Amino acid sequence: MSDDVMNHYPPLPRLPAHVGIIMDGNGRWAKQRGLPRMAGHRAGVENLQRILDAAMKFGVQIVTLYAFSTENWRRPHEEVTGLFNLLREVLDKEVAQLHQNGVQLRHIGDLEALPDDLKASILRTVELTRHNDRLIANIAFNYGGRDEIVRAVRAIVAEGVPAEAITDEVIAAHLDTAGLPDPDLIIRTSGEMRLSNFLLWQAAYAEFYVTSILWPDFGEEAFYEALRAFANRKRRFGALDDSS
Ligand code: IPE
Ligand code: IPE
Ligand code: MG
Repeated sequence: MSDDVMNHYPPLPRLPAHVGIIMDGNGRWAKQRGLPRMAGHRAGVENLQRILDAAMKFGVQIVTLYAFSTENWRRPHEEVTGLFNLLREVLDKEVAQLHQNGVQLRHIGDLEALPDDLKASILRTVELTRHNDRLIANIAFNYGGRDEIVRAVRAIVAEGVPAEAITDEVIAAHLDTAGLPDPDLIIRTSGEMRLSNFLLWQAAYAEFYVTSILWPDFGEEAFYEALRAFANRKRRFGALDDSS
């Protein structure tokens, strides 16, 4: 097949504006190859670049990428520090290119518990890219949906908001994703069918797509396939179809 045909993806009738991705399966990918788990995380980061390019190519406006959960601290110390080092490396080496490509990098999660240098580096990156508008990429690092809600409630209480003034909108405005639309589609790789504390509030009406492909192998075509599946879903939001 020619490159032209290989690269052709039929246009989709509907695209999700915001796609959440639970990037799972790096460890299994490495294990299958007899490699250390960190080699899987490295391959996962390389794939992340591919998926950011694919998101821009397909016209997705916002992606939220689950990279390190508040529960991932339970892993061996070596793996936790390995993941921090990997993020350090990405922030040092890859941000210039992402910035040039028009990617606005944001962070969701609890920055306070991260090492000071990593926190500073994340904040610098967010500041550097804040005016880019080709793609918003939220990196969920030390993120947990429950932790996010707890921090939001604390902030609301600290502001002295009276009980009767608390609405859906007030809560949403105090979450890390304030100002962004809820995800329309959440993809999880490696076959696990759970949220693992990802975007608990925001996922209320997200379409869920699970593929058995491990994250390092989840390429452009697999991403397109998820978008195609989304385009075929009937979203009702509790109401009835036009045809009912
Ligand atoms: C996802 O891959 C990346 C992180 C959670 C940091 P895993 O490391 O969870 O890979 P598996 O699930 O062990 O295969
Ligand atoms: C979820 O994956 C977190 C990330 C992808 C960062 P995990 O591998 O940590 O989830 P569980 O433990 O299988 O639920
Ligand atoms: Mg996993």
